[in-house]
Amino acid sequence: MARIPDAFIDDLLARTDIVELINARVPLKRQGKEYSARCPFHDERSPSFTVSPTKQFYHCFGCGAHGTALKFLMEYDRLEFLDAVEELARAAGMEVPRETRQRNVNPESQDLYAVLEDSARFYRKQLDASPRALAYLDNRGVDAATRERFGIGYAPGGFNALRDALGRDERRMRLLERGGMMSRNDSGRVYDKFRERVMFPILDRRGRTIAFGGRVLDADDSPKYLNSPETPLFHKGRELYGLWQVRQAHSRIPHIVVVEGYMDVVALFQHGVDTAVATLGTATTPDHAELLFRNAPDVYFCFDGDRAGRAAAWKAVESVLPRMKDGRQAFFLFLPDDEDPDSLVRQEGADGFNARLKQATPLSQFLFDSLAADVNLATLEGKGRLAERAKPLLAQIPDGAFADLMRQRLTELTGVGARASTPDTHVPAQRARAGAGPAPAKRSLVRSAIALLLQSPALGLELLPPYRFAPLRQPGVELLCELLQLIYERPDIGTGSLIEHFAGRDEQAALQKLAAASMPGEEAAWRTEFHETVARLEHQTLLQRREELWNKMREGGNSALSAEEKQELSQTLAALWRERGRGAQGA
Ligand code: UTP
Ligand code: MN
Repeated sequence: MARIPDAFIDDLLARTDIVELINARVPLKRQGKEYSARCPFHDERSPSFTVSPTKQFYHCFGCGAHGTALKFLMEYDRLEFLDAVEELARAAGMEVPRETRQRNVNPESQDLYAVLEDSARFYRKQLDASPRALAYLDNRGVDAATRERFGIGYAPGGFNALRDALGRDERRMRLLERGGMMSRNDSGRVYDKFRERVMFPILDRRGRTIAFGGRVLDADDSPKYLNSPETPLFHKGRELYGLWQVRQAHSRIPHIVVVEGYMDVVALFQHGVDTAVATLGTATTPDHAELLFRNAPDVYFCFDGDRAGRAAAWKAVESVLPRMKDGRQAFFLFLPDDEDPDSLVRQEGADGFNARLKQATPLSQFLFDSLAADVNLATLEGKGRLAERAKPLLAQIPDGAFADLMRQRLTELTGVGARASTPDTHVPAQRARAGAGPAPAKRSLVRSAIALLLQSPALGLELLPPYRFAPLRQPGVELLCELLQLIYERPDIGTGSLIEHFAGRDEQAALQKLAAASMPGEEAAWRTEFHETVARLEHQTLLQRREELWNKMREGGNSALSAEEKQELSQTLAALWRERGRGAQGA
């Protein structure tokens, strides 16, 4: 993965106006120092999404979404990291450092993309030259516009059509093989993998051809569909056929319909249901689930009504549960016998198909119905069995309202509650306080220093490492030092990037909270407060050291201290003495 220098990212973010960037996509309202809107990342009625121009980051008090301008572009425009960087750089008139751009793009994968693109073009040309393939598509009602939109082509018969057209030299042959376009027999002969098949190019998130699916013309030939093997560019568990076209058709995708086949996607699109994607001959994977929800809040899974369809649906349930953050919804639609979305939309049109979607079964219902299918809920034994089956599944749902509701539903059905999956994080702060009597002391010094740094990272530049309070044994000191060090190394870093640095670490949530809180007073006052706080931390560090040395002396007598330690003790005492003098002066 590419490594763009942090300094470049910091500079880029410093030159980007996050308010302008977000406002162009989600209209913002000014509210005091900040801006707000209804959160684009979850469903809500009242606005809890805020954007801070000074901290240059966004934060949603509802769903917890947060980040820098870069993160927003990645999440909202669904861009990969590098593409988001390019996009911001373009807008800011900056050039992404050259060597990083080149290092990130493996030259071989560039060549692979090119050879797959050439293959797709070759197949498209061949389609126009094949009356038989054209007749097949006409027969199935695929019109010219749809063929164009999906880049549908035809792989001619014989064993060398693609090979002859594109495999001119050894290097090109190697690329064709690496790209999954060739087969090799036992005697080592290399020949076209796809022959006499209608070809469906599979596009990645940036619209590049990365693989193909090919359908036979003759019903008797097998396999009916042949897919590219896994290659450096293609991992079928992570790709969805049609997603590129769906994204092209919508600036914001309202929902996604997941179907099983290429032809289902194509036919749905042609008949006006332009939100369908297909998994590629595999069950729905957790990667698919994440990709789906990153693109739309609501996902409808369509399956055959038969046993195989139900089994496939259950696989989808398992993949989806760990991704069911609040605001996301999954539905299941089972089709009548011997129908697929392709045949249904031809008969019933988009309206008919959409009406079916409206009737789809919500995940919650499908889950409990499936688990309870063979148990008698009128008996205690049945209830017990349902509870046993449900608990491990419910435990996978991320904490939130949906998880709570599912547990509540289980209790309704069985009288047995599923324990919260992570009881610790569920214990609200008040509970910890309840027994302890008085409310906790006001913010600790360390916490104040961190809060101030998050408000205004540049304050950190006024201190130089090594930090004298680093040895202080208090919670958060290490974190404070890490933040200071980070600011020292990346002087342009903003609040959002500081927090981003802690992605995936436990500290992040707390930092996020501190950063989102608005700090009273003016920046000049923060500066004074920051320096006072640091001074007090240093004072406590001296006290701690004095205590340590005194203790050592007490235990081992005067000779317990080495010469250096003795010197250190006198320096510590002197420093404390000087401080007292300063304090007296001030008083
Ligand atoms: P179906 O056999 O249900 O095909 O396979 P379909 O999409 O209805 O095909 P048509 O209408 O006869 O053209 C559903 C999907 O399963 C995968 C393909 O992705 C296909 O679209 N599949 C099926 C394979 O990968 N290989 C096969 O041999 C069959
Ligand atoms: Mn079909």
